[in-house]
Amino acid sequence: TAASFETGSLAGLRLTITAGPTREPLDPVRYISNHSSGKMGFSLAQAAVSAGAHVTLISGPVNLATPDHVTRLDINSAQDMLQAAESDTAQCDIFIACAAVADYRPSAVAEHKIKKGKEEIMELHLIKNPDIVATIASKVNAPFTVGFAAETRDIVSYAQDKLVRKKLDLIIANDVSRTDIGFNSDDNAVTLVTADQVTELPMMRKRQLATSLIDHIAQLYKANR
Ligand code: CTP
Ligand code: CA
Repeated sequence: TAASFETGSLAGLRLTITAGPTREPLDPVRYISNHSSGKMGFSLAQAAVSAGAHVTLISGPVNLATPDHVTRLDINSAQDMLQAAESDTAQCDIFIACAAVADYRPSAVAEHKIKKGKEEIMELHLIKNPDIVATIASKVNAPFTVGFAAETRDIVSYAQDKLVRKKLDLIIANDVSRTDIGFNSDDNAVTLVTADQVTELPMMRKRQLATSLIDHIAQLYKANR
């Protein structure tokens, strides 16, 4: 199906979306990562193309096909994701940070495979990764910036805190304590949090949720301009 660049709710707008996990190397054969499937970000990219947007998807390692008409940049680490996001968002109108970025990475990457020692306990030194969405949102002429919040409790108050702390325009909050939705599931239920509104969306297929989220984002973007 051809993209409707002239007619959709995001007609002609440029979107940058991050998706999937990041991988933080420890040595040549090992890494720290998480269970993010990338499905939500890829579905958002597809829905945004259908709404008429030009979409770049900055993706960590996932097992998903690239949606039609989407420009895909593959990265592994959070640092590489930041670099790709900084260069792509210099031109974009809307930035959606859907990736499950590793909060910390090993402070040093061993040049050779780490050998098992005599000790029963091994300690890893980790260093904080840059916050990609906060970095983009704090720039002069920042795009309209959307973050996700993966929480297991006090969903709305943690989301409001992230909205303010990271200077975001919208947070899409997600209850990751529920095993029926989120991370590896095809379904998701989210709460939209802006500076002056809290809106709960019902549980639905990620594909359908993506369309609904893109509609909400388009409306908020236009109201904010
Ligand atoms: N995010 C990011 N860069 C990071 C960490 C998170 O861009 N280094 C983005 C995510 O893509 C998401 C939002 O920030 O859009 C919130 O991620 P989350 O993990 O919920 O927030 P954190 O600030 O990392 O807080 P915590 O994990 O302690 O809840
Ligand atoms: Ca985090």
